[in-house]
Amino acid sequence: MPRKWRKITGCAALLLLVLALILGVGCSYSTAGELPEIPSLKEIYSDYFEIGAAVNGTTVTTHKALIDKHFSSLTAENEMKPEGLQRQEGRFLFQVADRIVNHADSQGMKVRGHTLVWHAQTPDWFFRDKDGKRIDQKAVITEADRQLVRERLEQHIETVMKYYTGKVYAWDVVNEAISDDGRYILRQDSPWFKILGEEFIEIAFRKAHEVDPDALLFYNDYNIERAYKRDRTIEMLKKMLDKGVPIHGVGIQGHWSVGDSIPEVEQAIKKYAELGLEIHITELDIGTRDISPAGLARQAEYYRQVFALFKKYSDVITSVTLWGISDRATWRPNDNPLLFDKQMEPKPAFWAIVNTDKSWEENRAFYLGE
Ligand code: G3I
Repeated sequence: MPRKWRKITGCAALLLLVLALILGVGCSYSTAGELPEIPSLKEIYSDYFEIGAAVNGTTVTTHKALIDKHFSSLTAENEMKPEGLQRQEGRFLFQVADRIVNHADSQGMKVRGHTLVWHAQTPDWFFRDKDGKRIDQKAVITEADRQLVRERLEQHIETVMKYYTGKVYAWDVVNEAISDDGRYILRQDSPWFKILGEEFIEIAFRKAHEVDPDALLFYNDYNIERAYKRDRTIEMLKKMLDKGVPIHGVGIQGHWSVGDSIPEVEQAIKKYAELGLEIHITELDIGTRDISPAGLARQAEYYRQVFALFKKYSDVITSVTLWGISDRATWRPNDNPLLFDKQMEPKPAFWAIVNTDKSWEENRAFYLGE
């Protein structure tokens, strides 16, 4: 279209937009209302892998329209962690988590259970003896101490997994057990490790498989796609698999920033696949502090390259979950890491993963009309 016609139509479009905004029929939409015609991510990715999102007790409502349109899997951001389900010993509170699980069920979505065993967000009582002393801080940890903590670990897993049998298809059984310190394989500050030793991992997975033999059981962690942590993770997983411990998959969390190495991720995917493990990208968010048009374009191109890689390995990558939906509700409030902005509108990063075959620069004109 000749430039001068573009100018005229551009002005007409601007006039229409101003008119529409005055009449309140702008292209934005309520959080729970109908969405403007944009493509559905779960439809676009249905032949590759589940496309999921982490939601919490608030966003499961405020982001309902986006959830139902784009995602085939949900993860509770906090509600299914030990502090979310068994804050006090013996008192299981499933109500908030059930709002997420029931919504997923009503929409035909799958649910990833996050997480059964973690050193964080786990109530203190798990690690205290009958006198209230922290077992992991005692000079001598007795066999009775170990038995008490093991029973609590197994009881938590048994109660939670029985309750969600048939509703949760995959569990992050153990989360973040590998040390960031290259001198050790396992994280030394985990009370689970300090009290039960490395055996806590085997105990957790064997109990999980006994309770729900149909559930897919994952080891989940951050930075295990990075060389400094990858090989020690593989060493732990291989040792467990060689002992017949029922670990079915590895969860690569994917808390990244624009510019992080993508070839390093590819190398890790290949190495985990060599163990015969399924791979879930469990907590993807890709941060940028630069939200200028150029900064958002760089984030879009990075997201595109990452999703192109995931599609290339969709024979082993069976689920990709974003750790949130919009930049309005993210654990990284300064990093603008998600596909929808603070107004819950699709960002360039959203459009960039709609069609990963062309670079974002080639696609932007088509999707943004620029
Ligand atoms: O529930 C309390 C509330 O009662 C209190 O009023 C409020 C203010 O202090 O805090 C609330 O707890 C917060 C909790 O989220 C629930 O909202 C905690 O302070 C806050 O630290 C916690 O953050 C979560 C974080 O895990 C904790 O480690 C994030 O939302 C959650 O996105 C994040 O997710 C983890 C994954 O589970 C594991 N991988 C890393 C990822 C990011 O840390």
